[in-house]
Amino acid sequence: MTFDIWLQAILLFCGVLFNAEGAFVGINIGTGLSSLPSAADIVAILRAHQITHVRLYDADAHMLNALSNTGIEVMVSVTNQEVLAVGERPSTAAAWINKNVAAYVPSTNITAIAVGSEILTTLPHAAPILLPAMSNLYKALVASNLNFQVKVSTPHSMGVIPRPFPPSTATFNTTWNSTIFQILQFLKNTKSFYMLNAYPYYEYIRSNGIFPLEYALFQPLSAVKQIVDPNTLFHYNSMFDALVDATYSSIAALNMSGIPIVVTETGWPSLGGANEPDATAENAETYNNNLIRRVSNDSGPPSQLNIPINTYIYELFNEDKRSGPVSERNWGIFFTNGTAVYDLSLSVSDSLGANSSTSFCIARQGADESALQDGINWACGQGRADCAAIQQGQPCYMPNTLQNHASYAYNDYYQRMRGSGGTCDFGGSATLTTADPSYGSCRFTGGSNSSTAGLFPPPALGPVGPSSESSRNVVLHFGTVVAVIATLCSVDVNLRNIW
Ligand SMILES: *[C@@H]1O[C@H](CO)[C@@H](O)[C@H](O)[C@H]1NC(C)=O
Ligand SMILES: *[C@@H]1O[C@H](CO)[C@@H](O)[C@H](O)[C@H]1NC(C)=O
Ligand SMILES: *[C@@H]1O[C@H](CO)[C@@H](O)[C@H](O)[C@H]1NC(C)=O
Ligand SMILES: *[C@@H]1O[C@H](CO)[C@@H](O)[C@H](O)[C@H]1NC(C)=O
Ligand SMILES: *[C@@H]1O[C@H](CO)[C@@H](O)[C@H](O)[C@H]1NC(C)=O
Ligand SMILES: *[C@@H]1O[C@H](CO)[C@@H](O)[C@H](O)[C@H]1NC(C)=O
Ligand SMILES: *[C@@H]1O[C@H](CO)[C@@H](O)[C@H](O)[C@H]1NC(C)=O
Ligand SMILES: *[C@@H]1O[C@H](CO)[C@@H](O)[C@H](O)[C@H]1NC(C)=O
Repeated sequence: MTFDIWLQAILLFCGVLFNAEGAFVGINIGTGLSSLPSAADIVAILRAHQITHVRLYDADAHMLNALSNTGIEVMVSVTNQEVLAVGERPSTAAAWINKNVAAYVPSTNITAIAVGSEILTTLPHAAPILLPAMSNLYKALVASNLNFQVKVSTPHSMGVIPRPFPPSTATFNTTWNSTIFQILQFLKNTKSFYMLNAYPYYEYIRSNGIFPLEYALFQPLSAVKQIVDPNTLFHYNSMFDALVDATYSSIAALNMSGIPIVVTETGWPSLGGANEPDATAENAETYNNNLIRRVSNDSGPPSQLNIPINTYIYELFNEDKRSGPVSERNWGIFFTNGTAVYDLSLSVSDSLGANSSTSFCIARQGADESALQDGINWACGQGRADCAAIQQGQPCYMPNTLQNHASYAYNDYYQRMRGSGGTCDFGGSATLTTADPSYGSCRFTGGSNSSTAGLFPPPALGPVGPSSESSRNVVLHFGTVVAVIATLCSVDVNLRNIW
């Protein structure tokens, strides 16, 4: 994509993502890459994109060190392989906390521990040890006086809720009644939260056309496709909201309340195999941009309007080492060089950044690479631009691309020299824009703060985890759904419920 668009996208992405008081959007950092960037480079990418919340799938020492003093909030994970030992022996749990949490706080802001990943649905035989593991970790936190700042929970897939539609009638699979009830009691007693992995992508494809794609992608639904819960009459604008509400309903069905839900994984794959036609860059772009917009409006789902839906996007990078269908390796939103896999928030960015009277000189989209390199050399040399900020380790170094570095250098030259006849040309590789390309702590001179300053309060995107078999397994019982839909439609034809 073009550089200016890309920058606008980041600005918007970050701005929308990172909302000071309200909900945050974090990011998961899977590590199944054949060439995983160094921890320092990953953190540079996070910072360049103003990501404030990350989830790691383990407690990698390099990452935890690199994340220190960044202000980024970190969720670490006990891997599924570790859960058994942690649940069996309090001393193992205490050692885990000492090694992976106590050793890093407060300089690394670890605020949560995810215990295992979708244990009930992927490793059901380990279910009896899950609560003991959580409890042992909590006791170790208490002993270290960390229990107020570090919360313990465990991510569940939607597979624990057999029939999520309509949300009001959803319940947990009764097989897990007592396990889940006890976990909920633990979450409530320790003021923790429910971790939900919710994937409208899977719900959509497994529904075989029952639900419109627009519904999965947060797009407007036509009047005849409105989705209304027949019991509550709540309108659902998105499947995402419906999945969160199905979980709130399931919790309520066990007579529990007061436990907020945090979406620990959601996203959309940008590429799929021949049999995965919905895994496209366009859909992924739509989903993630709309997700960010949705979460950032700070409202909860219809049944819990006052509880914002803090969310971690799955995931930072494509994980080429994962097995399974093609889509499995294409959930990432950035390439490892820091460029976005697809445009982010284009339509909105126009209205956000474009109304500044200030102009910026940046590298032209599609400009020849050698022209960009020549331009950088000239601007930073003879042109006497101040190119310190694009040196390694400096605020504008990441993303480490010619486009980015040229834009910075061109603009610095242009702002210094325009008064004395300097132009924005660079052999045709430069162009003027009114959108301030600044991002994070990388500030482009000449920019008024106007259009973007307000966009970068404390954000929150989330982190790194060696992707375990963190399956995004969503179990949708198609036959049942159809039956429910058939029944409900006949009851309330006017509302055109599709449930
Ligand atoms: C860590 O994050 C929490 C939650 O946002 C915040 O209250 C706290 O000030 C942060 N701590 C540090 C040391 O940044
Ligand atoms: C509930 O979970 C059990 C154990 O995994 C499974 O056998 C059963 O089919 C599930 N029930 C429903 C309704 O999905
Ligand atoms: C499980 O909980 C549901 C409510 O969510 C309740 O209707 C059901 O009777 C319970 N089943 C068992 C076996 O306890
Ligand atoms: C929840 O509370 C209601 C009313 O007190 C009771 O009828 C129901 O059995 C309870 N359900 C469970 C799963 O405990
Ligand atoms: C926030 O999003 C919800 C769900 O899509 C929507 O119902 C509500 O109108 C939005 N609120 C604002 C202020 O945009
Ligand atoms: C820019 O601002 C002016 C004056 O505030 C307004 O009239 C105009 O519509 C804005 N343009 C865009 C693209 O928002
Ligand atoms: C970044 O990496 C992607 C994927 O390898 C590649 O397509 C793109 O051209 C790279 N961008 C730059 C500016 O190097
Ligand atoms: C940028 O914002 C800061 C703080 O709001 C203000 O002090 C400064 O003058 C602004 N700079 C420009 C160029 O508007």
